[in-house]
Amino acid sequence: MQQKSIFITGAASGIGRATAELFHAKGWLVGCYDLNANALEGLQKDLGEHCLIGVLDVRDKAAFDTAMGEFSEQSDGRLDLMFNNAGITSGGYFDDVPFDKIIDIVNVNLIGVLNGTHAALPLLKQTENSLCFNTASSAAIQSSPGMAVYGATKHAVKGFTQSMSIEMARYGSRASDVLPGIIDTPLWESTRYVEGEADSTYEKVPKSNTERTDFLRTIQPTEVAEAVWNAYHGDKVHWYVPTDLEERTKRKETAEEIRDELITQHNS
Ligand SMILES: NC(=O)c1ccc[n+]([C@@H]2O[C@H](COP(=O)([O-])OP(=O)(O)OC[C@H]3O[C@@H](n4cnc5c(N)ncnc54)[C@H](O)[C@@H]3O)[C@@H](O)[C@H]2O)c1
Repeated sequence: MQQKSIFITGAASGIGRATAELFHAKGWLVGCYDLNANALEGLQKDLGEHCLIGVLDVRDKAAFDTAMGEFSEQSDGRLDLMFNNAGITSGGYFDDVPFDKIIDIVNVNLIGVLNGTHAALPLLKQTENSLCFNTASSAAIQSSPGMAVYGATKHAVKGFTQSMSIEMARYGSRASDVLPGIIDTPLWESTRYVEGEADSTYEKVPKSNTERTDFLRTIQPTEVAEAVWNAYHGDKVHWYVPTDLEERTKRKETAEEIRDELITQHNS
């Protein structure tokens, strides 16, 4: 049987890297793409054969098409799993974050997913049972203050995935996404802005949530990688990590009750 293959964006760190390691260990050809050339080289050194790397900015559609063409030459035109995973954030109240940072979140987290899906579709269409898999977030269940644009992009990714899960059935392919909670990755080193100035980061969050036992407990990126594996072999549209996060989608309170609860929490 021909070797299965996965194309991963944001592959040099965190969830992307853990996914590359897992699929490589399972015998897949892994295509690892990221902005960070040094980290990609380190990953290739660790994995060895059957690991392709490429510097790719997911905001650049032409570069995506080129990278996909090069990947296709190595995979014999096969793409079993497209993993649109690269993502960034900058925190702070909407009017406190520099506007160029806001637009960049949209360009990476949403436009990057559209670019990747569009570039991957010709290969996905010709690969039996292929999957387009996107990284959304628990922020797509309930957006938080100080993360308005990040939450907006992740709602958009979830909505896009739902539509694509229907459209792609026309040619026997699938689409689904993962909604991770608090994952222990460098994403938390992102800048928090106050009145337009870089103030701090969120780097303490994964450590301080380690002792929690609820859906906000800190999870290792390897668990999200397992969800990617399960998604390829499963049939759900949305995959929650941890799985109890899904309960948050079934809250009985009205949107106004949830809003008022969060206003109280935020201001206390
Ligand atoms: N860490 C969490 O708690 C958490 C929770 C929910 C969702 N997510 C999502 O998981 C995904 C992966 O994030 P992570 O937590 O592994 O973070 P990470 O910072 O460890 O990895 C993100 C990777 O994306 C790369 N990247 C950034 N901009 C890029 C661009 N323009 N083009 C190509 N690559 C780019 C970075 O270089 C980095 O290697 C993101 O979409 C993020 O929003 C993370």
